[in-house]
Amino acid sequence: MKIMHVDASAKRERSNSRALSRYFLERLREERVDLEVDYLDVTVDTPPHVTEAFAIATYTPAHERTAAMKATLAASDALCERLLAADALVFAMPMYNWSMPSAFKAYIDSVTRTGLTYVHSEDGHTVGQLVRHRALFITSRGADLRAGSPYESMDALTPALKAAFGFLGVASPTFVDAQPLQFANLQARADALERARMELAEVAANWAKQVHATPHARAADPNNEVMTLCQE
Ligand SMILES: Cc1cc2nc3c(=O)[nH]c(=O)nc-3n(C[C@H](O)[C@H](O)[C@H](O)COP(=O)(O)O)c2cc1C
Repeated sequence: MKIMHVDASAKRERSNSRALSRYFLERLREERVDLEVDYLDVTVDTPPHVTEAFAIATYTPAHERTAAMKATLAASDALCERLLAADALVFAMPMYNWSMPSAFKAYIDSVTRTGLTYVHSEDGHTVGQLVRHRALFITSRGADLRAGSPYESMDALTPALKAAFGFLGVASPTFVDAQPLQFANLQARADALERARMELAEVAANWAKQVHATPHARAADPNNEVMTLCQE
């Protein structure tokens, strides 16, 4: 399985979303899924903000683009290729101010490309091209935004991710949201991490089951590392 793995936390060793995405890949390996991982850290290789040149070039039909327009789009073309080449997407990020980190938004702006990740059908509809991709979003939140919490209505992250990738064809993404990791007592934070790990182990087992059910599935040696989650 070829996985596009993207991390987006500004934190490194102390990041829970990074630790959880690593944990998920370890669980997949433990489930004997043969992984090819294409890794992108959008806090290091941050796609640029949308510029005027990009906005014009991206909506200019491919056969009419000048050399300068092609150069403007080259990095975005490459990110789209990487995304389209994957079988599965694992995107991990913290909630920042109720939505996504700006580096991940820049990534979305780079990979939402007419003629590449979505196309126009003859009847005028847009058709997302990420239809065969499994998708897992791992989010970490300081507050508890689960149903019934006073913060429930503040979640602008989940709908934004669903809309952006739904438009690209991802119909049923899985979300594992670790919360509350900051605005709660130590026990509640530890419980939140444990819940997230259990959910991730379950998702890994499901993905593995589907992969092993296909005739060309290949088994890999388990290669597990002990991980420690970071307490905030
Ligand atoms: C700049 C910033 C903004 C944040 N905004 C929110 C927020 O709006 N809601 C929330 O629940 N947590 C918020 N948090 C807390 C983080 O989402 C939380 O600590 C998360 O676990 C961080 O994930 P990480 O360890 O992968 O960096 C914010 C943290 C930072 C640094």
